[in-house]
Amino acid sequence: MIKLKNDRLLRAIRRQPVDMTPIWIMRQAGRYLPEYRVVRQKAGSFLTLCKTPELACEVALQPLARYPLDAAILFSDILTIPDAMGLGLQFLEGEGPAFEKPLHSARDIQNLPIPDPEISLSYVLEAVRLIAHELDGKVPLIGFSGSPWTLATYMVEGKANKAFPKIQTMIEEESQLLHLLLQKLTDAVSLYLSAQIKAGVQVVMIFDTWGGMLNTPQYQEYSLQYVKQIIANIAATNLTSQVPVVLFTKAGGQWLELMAESGCDVIGVDWEVSLADARKKVGHKVALQGNLNPAILCQSEATIRAEAARVLADFGDGCGHIFNLGHGITPDVPPENVAILVDAVHTLSARN
Ligand code: CP3
Repeated sequence: MIKLKNDRLLRAIRRQPVDMTPIWIMRQAGRYLPEYRVVRQKAGSFLTLCKTPELACEVALQPLARYPLDAAILFSDILTIPDAMGLGLQFLEGEGPAFEKPLHSARDIQNLPIPDPEISLSYVLEAVRLIAHELDGKVPLIGFSGSPWTLATYMVEGKANKAFPKIQTMIEEESQLLHLLLQKLTDAVSLYLSAQIKAGVQVVMIFDTWGGMLNTPQYQEYSLQYVKQIIANIAATNLTSQVPVVLFTKAGGQWLELMAESGCDVIGVDWEVSLADARKKVGHKVALQGNLNPAILCQSEATIRAEAARVLADFGDGCGHIFNLGHGITPDVPPENVAILVDAVHTLSARN
């Protein structure tokens, strides 16, 4: 592994002292940046942007050119795996992701291939190599995947549907079949994250965006069980690199203790959680990432600084905090407000 010039993120993950609290922002490369919109226009679509490694590399680096962020994240999407499984990913303007061929029958699930990432996701791995090369150790590069549960919700529903009617019915009526799907996705995600590590990412993050819709026994059975397998699989295939894992379950604040037992190194939390409480519950086991409400970034400079101070104070003194939003940044955020936030976090947390 290359030597990092800025290793605040990795030190915070290991709960070691840092000179300032590291900060990066979920969806930091995206539509709130005018330079992103230019490249996306040039690419023609978001998916073409993801599938063109030179352009994915360019946009991944854009937020780092503007702000002194402490990490870069691969530019891609969680739905590349189902796309590689043959479902035909599309992004409809204003409607979000949709599949041309969602899963309808048991046979669709039985026939799903487990993609070899070196073949059908090679464009992602090429983007990782390009971004890592361009970063040249300036900051760590984060790779990512969706959790099997979150990927399954999109694959079964066909598109984002916050009531999740089809997958709810599967839990009731076809749980064996759902488990077959989740196991296939677990194998696919394990291979995919291991390939990203081999290509040069130094941290991986698992996004369980829809885990929070489940009840506690369901969360353990349909989501966390598979996340645990992935963490064990990537640890076993990357014995020498020991790449840390961040687990983010949106609306998962009631399961912090369960998540801390998963083998992850960091738990990402949304703004419903108090960092002080979370730290009391799990801070002896894992680092914490979060948790400013993204809506604050549309407020005044004074509010942004005050809220940054509040989040830092909520975590309190000591090691193991990675500042982030509690969910992705939204397209309506004025870019200068991100500069204010990064400055506030760094200056307010500076230790001499
Ligand atoms: O954090 C980063 O900067 C890395 C890039 C990243 C994207 N998507 C880029 C993106 C990451 C980590 C994701 C993850 C992702 N994708 C998740 C999990 C995280 C979360 O937010 O909960 C989910 C659920 C998806 C699926 C997805 N992709 C959705 C729901 C959408 C939004 C659709 C919309 O129009 O609002 C996307 C599109 C997407 N992914 C964009 C970006 C920059 C916007 C695409 C565009 O330019 O139009």
